[in-house]
Amino acid sequence: MQKVIIEGPVTLKGEVNISGSKNASLPIMISTALSKGSCLISNVPNLRDTRFLVSILQDLGCKVDFQKNIFAVHNSSIKKKSADYEYVRQMRASIVLLGPVIARYPKFKIALPGGCSIGTRGIDLHLEALKLMGVKISIRGGYVIAERKNKQLNAINHKFPKISVGATQNILMAATLANGKTVLKNCAIEPEVIDLINFLNSCGAKISIKNRIITILGVTELELQNHEVIPDRVEAGSYILAVMATKGKVILKDFEPTHLEFPLNIYQSMGLKIKKVSNRSYELSCRNLKTIKKINTREYPGYPTDLQAQIIATLLKTGIKSRVTENIFENRFIHIPELRRFGADLKLKDKTVEIQKVSELYGAEVMATDIRASFSLIIAAMMAKGTTTIDRIYHLDRGYEDFDLKLKKCGVNIKRKK
Ligand code: EPZ
Repeated sequence: MQKVIIEGPVTLKGEVNISGSKNASLPIMISTALSKGSCLISNVPNLRDTRFLVSILQDLGCKVDFQKNIFAVHNSSIKKKSADYEYVRQMRASIVLLGPVIARYPKFKIALPGGCSIGTRGIDLHLEALKLMGVKISIRGGYVIAERKNKQLNAINHKFPKISVGATQNILMAATLANGKTVLKNCAIEPEVIDLINFLNSCGAKISIKNRIITILGVTELELQNHEVIPDRVEAGSYILAVMATKGKVILKDFEPTHLEFPLNIYQSMGLKIKKVSNRSYELSCRNLKTIKKINTREYPGYPTDLQAQIIATLLKTGIKSRVTENIFENRFIHIPELRRFGADLKLKDKTVEIQKVSELYGAEVMATDIRASFSLIIAAMMAKGTTTIDRIYHLDRGYEDFDLKLKKCGVNIKRKK
C-alpha cells in the first residue's frame, strides 16, 4: 500500500492548477456509448477512476484511449454485453453505463456495485425508472440482467422519490434515444449533471432543464462532438479549505467560483478572502480563521457532502461547538476516528459531529478511507506539529490529480513512500 509522509505545520503559499471534474468526466465518457462516431473529450483528469473507466470501456469492446488528459473515442460500439464484478465493485459510478447501453442494445448485464465505505449506495432509483422505460430487470448472482422489451425505450413521466446524481444521469442518458418525450422530476442539478446535458445537446440530444425538471425529446441517433470538461469544484473546495486551515495564500487557476457559490459564502464568513486575478484565476487567502456554528450537507446548490470531511478538518483548531450534519449519506464519518488520532476533539452523535477546538494538533499515522475523507487527513497533517503518515493513498489518487506535486508547489514537505 502506498503512503504519503507530510511534515507539519505548513502555510500554503503558491499556485494550484485545478484539474477537470472527475464527476463530470465519468458520466460524459460513459455517455459516448450512446452513439457511433468519434470525438475528443478534453480536460479529463488523469486519475485512477478515469483510467479505470477507460479499461472498462475497452473491456466492453469500445475503441477508446486516454492520454494527456484527452479521452479519445474512435468507435464506441460495445461488443461485450456484460460489465464484470471485478470492475464495477471498484468504481460504483460504472452503474450509469446501464442506461445508455440498454438504450442502444437490447440486452446488458452489469454487476451490482455493492456498498462502499460511505454507505450502502443503493441503485433502486436507477432500476425503478428503467423498469418504467420498458426494461426487464432481474438480479441473479450479484448481477443486474437488463433486457429491453421493445425496439426503443419508452418515454416516461417520472418523479424520482429522492434526489440522486447518478440516477438522474443514468435515466436522462437512456431517455435521449427513447420513443417520445420524457419528463423527469426531482432531479439532481449539480454542475456535473449540467455539463453532461450540455455535451449530449451538442451531440444532437434535445434536453431542457427548469428547476429540478428535466425534459428529454427522444431522437433516433446522436453524433459525437468534441467537449471540454468543466473544472473540478470539489478539488477546488478542498484546496480552499486547506488554504483556510493553514492561513495561507494561493492562486487557484482554472477555478469556476459559480460552481461553489453556497460554500464560498460560508468560507468568506469564516475569514476567506477571494480576489479575481484573471479569467478563471483567483487569489484565495485567509489571515485569521473564524468558527462557524452549523453546517448541513445538502444536494446542490446546498453545501456539498463531498466537502464535509474537509471542513471538519479545517475547523479542528477554531471550532467552538461547531456542528456538521451529514444529510446525504448514511455513513460518511469514517474520517472522524482518523482525525481524532491528531488530537482532535470531535463528538459524533447520529448524523452530526460536534467540533471543539484544541490548541495543538500532532502528526500521526492515519489511514485514508474514501476519496474526500483522505483529503481531510492531508489538511489535518498540514496543521499538525510533526510527521504524519497517511496509508492507503490510492483513495487520494482516485480523486485528486497529482495532489502531492500540487502541494509540493505550495511549499508542503510531502513525500510518497511504498
Ligand atoms: C455522486 O454519487 C458523486 N459521484 C459522489 O461523489 C457524490 O458524493 C454524490 O453524487 C452526492 O453528491 C459521482 O458523481 C461519480 P447519489 P452518486 O445517487 O450518484 C442514495 C466523490 O467523492 N441513493 O446522488 O452515487 C445514496 O445512497 C463521490 O467524488 C439511493 O438510495 O450519489 C445516497 O445516500 C463520493 N438509491 C443518496 O441517495 C439510489 O438508487 C445520494 O446518492 C441512488 C442513490
